[in-house]
Amino acid sequence: MSDVTPIPTVRSFHGRVPVPGDKSLGHRALMFAALAEGVSTVAGLPSGADVRSTRSVLTSLGVQFENLTDGAVRVIGCGGNFATPATPLDCGNSGTTMRLMTGILAGAGIDTTLVGDASLTARPMARVAKPLAAFGAEVTTTDGKPPLKAHSHGGKTLKAPAEPISTGVASAQVKSALLLAGLFAEGTTTVVEPAASRDHTERYMRWLGVPIRADGLSISIDGPARPKAFTQTVACDPSSAAFVAAVAVLCDDADVTIPRVLYNPSRLGFFRALSAMGADVQFSDPAPDGPEEVADIRVRSGRLTGTRIDGELSLDSLDELPLLALMGAFAEGETIVADAAELRHKESDRIASTAAMVRALGGTIEEREDGWRIVGGPLRGGEIDAGHDHRIALSGAVAGSRLPGVTVRNFAVAEVSFPGFLDVLRRFGSE
Ligand code: S3P
Repeated sequence: MSDVTPIPTVRSFHGRVPVPGDKSLGHRALMFAALAEGVSTVAGLPSGADVRSTRSVLTSLGVQFENLTDGAVRVIGCGGNFATPATPLDCGNSGTTMRLMTGILAGAGIDTTLVGDASLTARPMARVAKPLAAFGAEVTTTDGKPPLKAHSHGGKTLKAPAEPISTGVASAQVKSALLLAGLFAEGTTTVVEPAASRDHTERYMRWLGVPIRADGLSISIDGPARPKAFTQTVACDPSSAAFVAAVAVLCDDADVTIPRVLYNPSRLGFFRALSAMGADVQFSDPAPDGPEEVADIRVRSGRLTGTRIDGELSLDSLDELPLLALMGAFAEGETIVADAAELRHKESDRIASTAAMVRALGGTIEEREDGWRIVGGPLRGGEIDAGHDHRIALSGAVAGSRLPGVTVRNFAVAEVSFPGFLDVLRRFGSE
């Protein structure tokens, strides 16, 4: 049964607004800690359902976690010697859990089955399963989709592919799965992608002593290898910060600072695009932080004009493109988003679901194969159906912060990445 949630309007929005820990880093922190041979401590993990899926999958594989009193988690690494799970591994709504764990399990020498919810079960998995065959791994899909099976290969070590393997798409999940399989493979694994996707896996590997080198779009690791155990506080999520920033920009009166946000260019396209649209966005106090950097982001209310988002900017704004399309609907003039065909394979077909969202608000949006053309103009309240897509739910909430009368169907799915988003609006905002 799906719920219908009314969204509170926000006219004034001030303060230091915290956002959850970064989801991409959270998954990787738990996986690298599990693969290490010692004890790691990870603080600042996001509490959303996706990273909980990674933790429960690793628990089913025999990895031990201990919740510390300060909210951090202690992980007893098993060096990749996983136990055979009693039941299929449930990745929930999380593509990152399923794809990265497939890379790990391809080399783990145990038989496993990975399953997910209705949205994940509709997403393409051959893009991970097929290239893993080049390692001698046997991973099978169900007509290209989950359930996915990683078969044991009698415990023998994988062989690094003789030739560089191409990911085919600019996908950090595919690239990461192949690099993680490389940890279990004898020899040098080289992965090449057509354009640079987010590079968190490479940064973690470098930070944790895995022999890895990058040469343009080609990344090589020498295996077999294991990461060192580590202590980390996960940086805050720029993808979640984007929703807070969007509310601030659309407000009559806003001045918010979002502290300690992951400051990695491959994740900041949304903020670059928003600046290009005329928003007042400033980064301050950049500082190194484990494998990454963090910075504070200050955003004030402002007026937006349309822009063009394509190429590298589209890739670096990937998960925020539905929100950027919405910002385009609030802006003056035309906004074009192109080179984003991958959005069709996310938690929903985001090209279609975003167009439906903007139309539900009375906006003008033309759906294209690889993006949209949006014409800014008057918008009104309406009902947005989030389906299984947390980014649509949260974008709907941003629309409702500005427009009276917005409701979001199945808003509960926002729990995947930003539990408590509406509480943040109530706490730091007023009508
Ligand atoms: C992610 C990579 C992205 C992104 C997803 C998280 C990751 O997908 O959409 O939300 O953590 O590696 P791609 O595999 O398309 O890059």
